Amino acid sequence: MPTKEKFYLTTPIYYTNGLPHIGHTYTTVVADVIRRYKRMRGYEVVMTTGTDEHGVNVERAAKNAGIPESEFVARMATEWKNLWNELGLNADEFIRTTDLKHVRTVQWLFKLCKENGYVYKGHYTGQYCIYDNAFVNDAKPGDNCPDCGRPTETVTEENYFFKLSAFQKPLLDFYRKNPTFIQPETRKNEIISFVEGGLKDLSITRTTIRWGIPVPGEEPHVFYVWFDALTSYLSAVGGPEYEQRGMWPADLHLVGKDIIRFHTVYWPAFLMAAMLPVPRQVWAHGWFLMDASKMSKSKGNVVLPRPIANMLGMDALRYFLLREVVFGQDGNFSYDALVTRYNADLANGLGNLASRTAAMIEKNFAGRIPRLSVGQPQDDALAKQTQSAIGEVLERYENMEFAQALEAIWAVIGAADKYLTSEQPWALGDSEADTQRKAAVLGTTAELLRIVTVLAHPVLPDSTAKVWSLLGQPGTISGVQLDGLRWGQLAAGVQLGKAQALFPRVDKAEAIERIEAMANEEQNPQAAPAAAAATSTTASSGAAVAPAASDKIGIEDFTKVEMRVGQIKTAERIVGADKLLKLTVDIGSEIRQICAGIAQYYEPEALIGRKVAVVTNLAPRKLRGVESNGMIIAASVGPEGRPVLAGFHEDVEVGARLK
Ligand code: MSP
Repeated sequence: MPTKEKFYLTTPIYYTNGLPHIGHTYTTVVADVIRRYKRMRGYEVVMTTGTDEHGVNVERAAKNAGIPESEFVARMATEWKNLWNELGLNADEFIRTTDLKHVRTVQWLFKLCKENGYVYKGHYTGQYCIYDNAFVNDAKPGDNCPDCGRPTETVTEENYFFKLSAFQKPLLDFYRKNPTFIQPETRKNEIISFVEGGLKDLSITRTTIRWGIPVPGEEPHVFYVWFDALTSYLSAVGGPEYEQRGMWPADLHLVGKDIIRFHTVYWPAFLMAAMLPVPRQVWAHGWFLMDASKMSKSKGNVVLPRPIANMLGMDALRYFLLREVVFGQDGNFSYDALVTRYNADLANGLGNLASRTAAMIEKNFAGRIPRLSVGQPQDDALAKQTQSAIGEVLERYENMEFAQALEAIWAVIGAADKYLTSEQPWALGDSEADTQRKAAVLGTTAELLRIVTVLAHPVLPDSTAKVWSLLGQPGTISGVQLDGLRWGQLAAGVQLGKAQALFPRVDKAEAIERIEAMANEEQNPQAAPAAAAATSTTASSGAAVAPAASDKIGIEDFTKVEMRVGQIKTAERIVGADKLLKLTVDIGSEIRQICAGIAQYYEPEALIGRKVAVVTNLAPRKLRGVESNGMIIAASVGPEGRPVLAGFHEDVEVGARLK
């Protein structure tokens, strides 16, 4: 058994017929915030996520892609996993419903339910929505699905049924005895009245679907996707051997409001039937809407996380998702609001407080954190305000009130700004009294900064770690225990660490344009060949292979390409595009802006003045949202395609044509 108290939380497992958007990212970000918060409160935490890989939709998507289902889902699962890793959201366990350990768990759960008398065979005819993988109760032929609005199909089949009707009273008793099982409160009332309205038995196997987990000895029966999917929470932490891992029951299932019924009615009923422990809480959050409707691939209104993370950093996206909307309610997503909050709260707020505090300590105390001394009533007042914010913020986190937790942290940041403005440490001189006063003010500000940094850490893990090392504080920030956090623990006399860019201010219009351009590149890779773009400076990639005779081009084709000698005038890195450099290149007749995928191999300063070969008649295009008008030629060397710029051994005139 773990020595620490355990906390097991889950995100839903996501469908593999699409790729993650902001809605999915939201749930996973919240789970990650809770995971970090709980660890800072001393829990042993396991967070799981995964992919829901069975069902008709996957069967169809694989068919459209012309590959077997197993290959299709393997590719998609890799995409999901990679994206979560890239965004710093990798779970402790990633469960796929095609994993053998999961298949075994589903079959075991079914066996337990059956042995306990809660499963029987019957026939079912009904209207079925293949998109939501659910029969639509009370629908007639021709009706549309009330959830997604798409037409239902009439389906009759022999099924195994689960006696859900037997669980009306046990469920209602359970909700009564565990009043915090369903959160938030409004959802709880919804579910209670649904259950009070009567429960029909539920068909839990299918014979019309091929791509699913087989019911042992009962082929062609496969499990209904929700019986399959919900069980993943148990398979992720040991399945039939769950007791050994010591994590079950789950402490928290985080879900969107769309799937609360599955989690608070079906899932506890399945577990009760199998006589297994029931999860402690299901929390249903609202949706992020785009133009007032739910994001979906079919509507073409999805917002992708990667371009935002590239442009503003993942911490900015995390902050926005949690700060903008009260947890539990729906909210609108807009790039405008995102960038506004980024500039106001992160660049001007936390970022500015950290950099000006560090700069003043550098200037006045040779970069050593002054000893904390409370000199005047206003210092004391700020100390008290910060101390009492600690309690408030922890309580807000505990109650899943993330927006309010952040609001309380930012109120302290605002108070620090006011304090600095009124104390004006920069206007003080070098007398002993002035130096003492400066030490008191900067010590107070540094201590406040340390505390808000710790409090914000679950939401802003990367940037707060930077502030922590900037303040030269011992250990890692994630190792700080929130329960012991108090005013007065600042390690003084230590040297400031290296200043790192936290949240550089961005121009709103330009940032939005670049995010949208990157999203467009990601969604339409063929329209803007982004993959090629990063290495588009290379003449060829990989080993040189002689083209087949029929692939050879005539001289008239070659002369269509105009190449000239160019000279690099300026070179700079591009925020949000690790591989690209933005160059201005003199090509004789004009100066061009060109993006080149060489940032990992060339320092910008070393390129100034260098003569390069430039393709000058390519149509301009945007790379990571930055206009590129031409292409620099480079060789592609080695298996990773390291670019080596083509150049000249003799002095050549800028603008000379290459033939
Ligand atoms: N596979 C099922 C869940 C099975 S869990 C045992 C499923 N998958 S899903 O891919 O559709 O993702 C569902 C979850 O993604 C929602 O419950 C919600 O948590 C999140 N969101 C998807 N779109 C969303 C928004 N637009 N806004 C917020 N969250 C949303 O259902």
